[in-house]
Amino acid sequence: MHAMSDREEQQYPESSTLYGDTHDQLIQGHSYDGIKEYDNPMPGWWVWLFWVCVAFSVVYYVGIEFMDFVDTYEDDLAQSQQALEARRAAYAEANPSFEPTPEALADVVANASMVEQGAETYTAVCASCHGQQGEGIIGPNLTDPYWIHGGTNVDIFNVLTDGVVAKGMPAWEGNLTAEERAALVAYIRSIEGTDPPGAKEPQGELVE
Ligand code: HEC
Repeated sequence: MHAMSDREEQQYPESSTLYGDTHDQLIQGHSYDGIKEYDNPMPGWWVWLFWVCVAFSVVYYVGIEFMDFVDTYEDDLAQSQQALEARRAAYAEANPSFEPTPEALADVVANASMVEQGAETYTAVCASCHGQQGEGIIGPNLTDPYWIHGGTNVDIFNVLTDGVVAKGMPAWEGNLTAEERAALVAYIRSIEGTDPPGAKEPQGELVE
């Protein structure tokens, strides 16, 4: 060991930068297999940042544990959920959902633009089973006064909502809004008694 460090000292004489002409100071007595270590201070910016972090951690800890001026994850979550609820409430207020009361449905049925809107939906999603003109194919004729599930506006609305899944009539609640279903009731009312060509034979009860 000693011989080795003598040799090292020969290789790096006193005047060398390694021995203190700069701030690169070798740690004395540290020599392992000829490997030596400098004793350099941490850069000023690093030390400064370190103490800022330490100071910040104290503020943060006090803020989160004692004085409550730093929000925890749970606080943030609760605040976001409140904001979401508020948005939903505002949306629900701005867009009241349609209530299928007999009065409300009667209004929709009397509204020509709703009939038109219902006709479009009908052609797009109902005609394949009930016929282009409601004459009936797989599904019953919708133009005659015979109804399997009742012939009031509310009955028809409810069949659209829940379907008769076992008999092949899909439930539309998930795919059509209440307004769209009401518009379909209006359209079905508008084709009542039209007796289109190829009409399917009556099914269900005669509703006067
Ligand atoms: C996949 C075929 C199919 C589609 C699509 C379909 N229906 Fe039906 N629908 C049926 C069948 C089958 C029945 C008869 C159910 C029964 O026998 O109880 C029926 C029954 C009905 C009834 C009740 C009739 C009665 O006599 O009580 C109404 C009203 C109706 N459908 C309207 C619609 C409307 C409006 C649409 C479009 C949103 C639609 N259906 C889409 C097959 C379909």
